[in-house]
Amino acid sequence: MASKDDGFARVHLQFLDMFIASGFKSLRKMEELRGTSEGGLVGLGEKAKLLLGAAVAETSLLSALYWITCAYTLLGHVIEPEMRQQILDFAGRCRCRSTPGAFAPHPAHQADLLNTVSAVQVAVLLDKPGILGDLSEVSHYVRSLQLPDGSFANRSGSNEGDCRFTFAALCALKLLARLENNDRKESLDSVSAWLLRCQNLDGGFGCRPGECESHAGHTFCCLAALSLISQLHQLSHRGRGRLIRWLSGRQCESGGMNGRPGKKADACYTWWTLAAAELLAGSEIVSMFDLEALEEFVEHCMSAEGGVAPHPHDDPDPFHTFFGLAGLSLVEHAREGRRGLKKMEPTLVLPAQFS
Ligand code: FPP
Ligand code: ZN
Repeated sequence: MASKDDGFARVHLQFLDMFIASGFKSLRKMEELRGTSEGGLVGLGEKAKLLLGAAVAETSLLSALYWITCAYTLLGHVIEPEMRQQILDFAGRCRCRSTPGAFAPHPAHQADLLNTVSAVQVAVLLDKPGILGDLSEVSHYVRSLQLPDGSFANRSGSNEGDCRFTFAALCALKLLARLENNDRKESLDSVSAWLLRCQNLDGGFGCRPGECESHAGHTFCCLAALSLISQLHQLSHRGRGRLIRWLSGRQCESGGMNGRPGKKADACYTWWTLAAAELLAGSEIVSMFDLEALEEFVEHCMSAEGGVAPHPHDDPDPFHTFFGLAGLSLVEHAREGRRGLKKMEPTLVLPAQFS
């Protein structure tokens, strides 16, 4: 018999199906357009519009496939073979020819670390490490992005270290070591010192030491990165207390979480804030936040046609759908689960069955 929970999963699956099907359709259209020689000025306005829209969307396409695949798994859905193949083929095509081991968001774009970790996540989720090619080349590429101060950059040649890239690198290296059956220890002393220096006096973490405002997304990245290298205990007692207070302060009157003081609540911070708090305080999150009010806020961000938007009445997108549902999964596994969402593993940002 269909229950309320079946309805919850069904409507979000419909949104994800629609998004991915129309995504692959416009991808094909774009490739046809790129393949045709310019047919004069007729239709150029329409083409320019399409090209512009696609160029923007293309910068995170492979990551979008990770968010969507992960959201399907969280909802307990087994992806149809044809769609699974389309995802794998696309991820394989994003492998960069000129930089071994690196992946781009789209075959026509430049490779970077964030899309490389997305390729690794997709390979793990769909149990197809073959799409990554030579695994040691992928870990070599990731390690090549480490800077002298211990942090990681997103692209070869960049010297801009950032805790998002540092977390993504450690996450990729952890998953790759597992796929390779390798218990190699990275030399990571400088990384943990660098991550600890991202903590500000208010207790939250910024994207780099000393110069960035505390942000819940960056705080999650620093804590998850420290946890991946078993260095979370390095936080001082005082720093931990300040951080718990800073994280508790992220819950707004609306019940939702914001990323920084003074900003409005956004569904994705259900994940960044709660996952950070869970890494730090485990089941104490039940007393740190009003989880019922948080759930209600995320429900207000859901569209009747499925999907989760950043704020109530906005349009849903795959990023907020995944991180909104992932946050709800943390809520429901901390209390009585009622939607049947799979449990998430915070440090790998994957359902726990893959950890
Ligand atoms: C806010 O997004 C989220 C962040 C700043 C965290 C981003 C984290 C990463 C890129 C690392 C991801 C790695 C893995 C493995 C999942 P937003 O668009 O809502 O930001 P805004 O509130 O500042 O607009
Ligand atoms: Zn957001």
